[in-house]
Parts: sequence; C-alpha cells; structure tokens
Amino acid sequence: MTLVIKGGTIVTADRTYRGDILIDGETIARIGEDLSGDETIDASGAYVMPGGIDPHTHMEMPFMGTHSADDFDTGTAAGLAGGTTMTVDFCLPAPGQGLIEALQEWHQKAGKARADYSFHMAITWWGQQVFDDMPKVVAAGVNSFKHFMAYKGSLMVNDDEMFASFQRCAELGALPLVHAENGDVVASLQQRLLAAGNDGPEAHAYSRPPQVEGEATNRAIMIADQAGVPLYVVHVSCEESHEAIRRARQKGMRVFGEPLIQHLTLDEGEYAHADWDHAARRVMSPPFRDKANQDSLWAGLASGSLQVVATDHCAFTSEQKRYGVGDFTKIPNGTGGLEDRLPVLWTKGVRTGRLTMNEFVAVTSTNIAKILNVYPRKGAILPGADADLVIWDPAATKTISAASQASAIDYNVFEGIEVTGLPAITLSRGRIAWRDGELRAGKGDGRFVERPAGAPISKALSTWKELVAPRKVERSGIPAGV
Ligand code: URP
Ligand code: ZN
Ligand code: ZN
Ligand code: ZN
Repeated sequence: MTLVIKGGTIVTADRTYRGDILIDGETIARIGEDLSGDETIDASGAYVMPGGIDPHTHMEMPFMGTHSADDFDTGTAAGLAGGTTMTVDFCLPAPGQGLIEALQEWHQKAGKARADYSFHMAITWWGQQVFDDMPKVVAAGVNSFKHFMAYKGSLMVNDDEMFASFQRCAELGALPLVHAENGDVVASLQQRLLAAGNDGPEAHAYSRPPQVEGEATNRAIMIADQAGVPLYVVHVSCEESHEAIRRARQKGMRVFGEPLIQHLTLDEGEYAHADWDHAARRVMSPPFRDKANQDSLWAGLASGSLQVVATDHCAFTSEQKRYGVGDFTKIPNGTGGLEDRLPVLWTKGVRTGRLTMNEFVAVTSTNIAKILNVYPRKGAILPGADADLVIWDPAATKTISAASQASAIDYNVFEGIEVTGLPAITLSRGRIAWRDGELRAGKGDGRFVERPAGAPISKALSTWKELVAPRKVERSGIPAGV
C-alpha cells in the first residue's frame, strides 16, 4: 500500500519547500513532484511537518500517593489530536527495585499506547544493582537516565549518587537528565510555610523560588562536566536556570535545556486565583513563574541556548488535586498539555514572529530526535524515515476547552486560549491516526522505539574528555621518602 500526500508545503527544521511525499507502508519512500500512489491525501494550503515528539510525559505515573490520570491510551490519544506522534515517558523504579523489572512494568503499561513511545530510566536509588542494571537498560533500547534533585524522601537522589550515575552514563554513552531543584531547601521551605499557616496552592510556588532551580542547574552542570558526560535539563522554567545552561554552552559544555509550553505561556498569577481548584490544578514543579521569565525562555529557543519544547504531561483530576486541601505539599504535582503543545506554540511563537516555522519544527521534533539518538528515523521528512507526519492547517482556529479534549482530566490549564494553526491530519508510521477530530489509531497501535547509546555528542565529548584527562607526570628521579 502506498499513500501520497500531494500539494502541501513541506516544513522541516532546515527547509520550506513544495513537494509531494510518497509513503510506502510505514516509511517515507520518496519526496518529489507529481508523485502518485494507491491513495492520496490533498494537502494543498497546508504545511506538512514531522510529527511532534514530546520527550517528557508521565502516563499513569505513581506519584504522591496516586497515579496520574492519563494513561498510555488517553495520553497518546491526546498527543495524536495535537499532532504529536511520539512520547518519551519516565520509567520509575520503586526504592530497591531493579531497573529491568521496572522497565517490564512500564512496557506492560504502555501496551495500550496509540502512538509510538520510548522511555527514559529514572535513577531513584543507588546501589550495585542499579550500577549493574544500567548497561542492561541501554541494551534494552533506553539511552537516557533521569535524576530528580527534588522530591526529598521519594524520588530525590543526592550529589554522590548523581555523580556515580553520571560517570556510569559516560561509560555507557548514555545521556543523564535532571529535574533541577534543590530538594533540601524546598523541603525546608515547605515546612516553614506550613508552620506559618501558609497552606494554600500559592505556597507551592513560594516553596520553589527560581533560585533553587538555578542553583541545582549549576550543580548538575558541574557534576556532568566532572563526569565527562552531556546533560539534559528538563523543564527549565526561569532565567536563573537558563542562564546556567547558556553560560555552560558558551564554555563548550554539552548541555541541553527543555522549557515547557506551560512555562512559556502561563505565569504565577494563576496561583493567586480566588478559586482553590483553579490554583491547585496548576500546581507543578517547577511552578509557573513571574512573567519576566517567559522572555528569557523564548529568547533561548530563538538563539539556540534552549533546544526543546515539551509538556511534562502529568495530568491529575480535580479530585486528585484535592488531596492537598489544607496542605499544599500533598497536592499531586503535574499538569497536562500534550494536545495543546503544538497549537499553543504555533500561536504564541510562530504567529508572533518569535519563532520561524523551521525553528518550530526543530524545537517540537527534530532537535530532540537528534539528542535522543533516533534521528532521522524520527523527527525528519526524508526517504527511509518513519512516516510520522502532521498535516497542519495554519488557518484553523479553536478555543481550547476541557470539554472537547482527549485527555481524561476535567480541566485544561490553557482553557479559553484561542489558537490559530491546528493539525488537520496526524499520520503515525504511514497510517492516518487522527483526522478532523476523529481518533483512528487503535489501542496498542503504538510501538516501543529503541534508542541506541553512543549519540554523536556523547562520542565527541568522551573523545575530548579523554584527550584532556589528567595525566600522571613521569619523572626520572624521585627522592627517597622519609
Ligand atoms: O510537577 C511535575 N512536574 N510533575 C511530574 C514529575 C516531574 O517533576 O517531572
Ligand atoms: Zn502503582
Ligand atoms: Zn520534574
Ligand atoms: Zn516530569
């Protein structure tokens, strides 16, 4: 079976041009003019772009005494509805649990995914077994390891554990990721705020000021540099963290930064809302920031000091959020955004001139495909690439509303925002997965995407680090010791 997408304007990370795309089975076979196939999709007036890749989601995440409400079924459906064809979720071993056993659990949960997915492995504890399991995880197609510097008492790891893990990542050609917040200071501020009677959702933001994120980002960068490994900083929300990344990159360090669509467009004013539910629904870590930080994040995307826009999709219902009535530290942390990432970024980024269309493709798909070492199978419109495509109608508009979303939760943090530029069709490995509001992908249509270690940047950095490593000075005469 062949399929031709005819008459569209192809937009990739580096080019914009007219062309037809011939898809044979699951992959792109040819790009050219006047192509024909068994079936045709008319894309005239539309842009054809690589499907979005969201490298930061938490489906059915066991967290803060509950599980996030979107699972791999509803979560990947939300992704497809918004033009996202691949998600990367975090496998979270329980304390003392082996990494391979945890990976099997995540594979089990992901069996119902409607679009392709991959995993990062979280290092939630440290010991010989974790050290021994890491190469097995890499062999199983997971080349990235996540470290939480916050969530003291649950997911948090300390500097010595992080340094050990980062060194192991360097040996394995794997990429460490960090959630950068100083977890000790956060935990202490939380107690201080509660003791002072500050128990509402706004105190969540007070307990995690930008300084704790900036400090942790700097620390993680230093630890990665000492370990000789690249670093990926998830959910960069503020200038303090962006500044650390920018400075490191200028010094030649291989550091990547991922702002979220939420932090680019929503601010801390949400926590001042008189309605407790409204504020609690927006509780996530790091919290929404003073609006001034948004300019910094947008500038980072435009200048290249930040590379990827993600969602950290971790959706909890209003009922789940209410576990934290009277104690903000018990509000499950997380927000949704998978369905809205592309339309909101297009509206607030491309339509305002903050980003070019090519930069849009870079930060929603191509850059992360390269960083995670799945390019050009994913993130590209090239012969041989998976036919994960979004046919984008730049004139289509809608007002975002929970009432019409694919996500399982009962609200949307982007509620009421008008977007212009929406997917008309989302193709997943050559099949129409979503079209004009209708979900066509079935449960289980998604496949696990293996990501090999040894990405070009990892190899380049280890070559350099080996070249400049401390060397013992060989001496001819050594005085006798006393
Ligand atoms: O609040 C958040 N971000 N929840 C999900 C877990 C994490 O820290 O990424
Ligand atoms: Zn569980
Ligand atoms: Zn996080
Ligand atoms: Zn997350």
